[in-house]
Amino acid sequence: MQRFRLTTLLGSICACLLASALVAEAQTPSPADSHVGKDGLTPAVAALLDQIRQNDRGQLAISREDGRFLRMLVAASKSRRVLEIGGASGYSAIWMGLALRETGGTMVTIEYDPARAKELTANIAKAGLSDIVTAVSGDAFARIPEQKGEFDLIFLDAWKKDYKRFFDLVLPRLTPGGLFLAHNVVNKKSEMGDFLAAIEQTSLFTTIVSPSGEGISVSYKRRK
Ligand SMILES: C[S@@+](CC[C@H](N)C(=O)[O-])C[C@H]1O[C@@H](n2cnc3c(N)ncnc32)[C@H](O)[C@@H]1O
Repeated sequence: MQRFRLTTLLGSICACLLASALVAEAQTPSPADSHVGKDGLTPAVAALLDQIRQNDRGQLAISREDGRFLRMLVAASKSRRVLEIGGASGYSAIWMGLALRETGGTMVTIEYDPARAKELTANIAKAGLSDIVTAVSGDAFARIPEQKGEFDLIFLDAWKKDYKRFFDLVLPRLTPGGLFLAHNVVNKKSEMGDFLAAIEQTSLFTTIVSPSGEGISVSYKRRK
């Protein structure tokens, strides 16, 4: 009888331990869970973003404020297919990838420099976003035609002299009702006069916002 009780007791303890382990696992946030901590970032993703900026000797990455803006816009527009031109080490891609986790979308980010393209892939993996964000190494002028289908949000952040050529290449690939965004349209506007004139065309509604002084153009592609 006593032996039976002991076995039952041990069985109950094991069941309790298993149940608590399962609950703990379910409650452990994934690195990309966008609902935790300051700025809606998990400590792990916040630390990763800080580290990318610290290692960014060329100061290529967008500001944190611009990252917050991109994440908000991707989420609010319910974008499902995003293209980034100029991924660098992944700072902006991670902010947009976090929003895509919420919309159920995916993103392709293209980076020309092979060393940065490696960092881009590694940082996306560290953020837990490899199932959402695909890093493509190479020249976006060659890589974009290889991508299938349309995009409902495009973020351009490559070399500024190329903006007009990229705009001409990707506008036909933007879904009607989609958004075309470009970075540095305030602090580097003198390098992209032709592009800034082009985004004022009547098939688009364009506005310029400046969360941190660098400036982002936001162009909505009209449905008719
Ligand atoms: C300003 S940085 C991008 C920063 C990035 N969006 C971020 O916030 O982390 C510009 C990047 O565009 C890349 N780039 C320039 N021309 C490119 C091209 N034709 N195709 C792909 N990448 C290009 C550069 O190598 C550079 O890493």
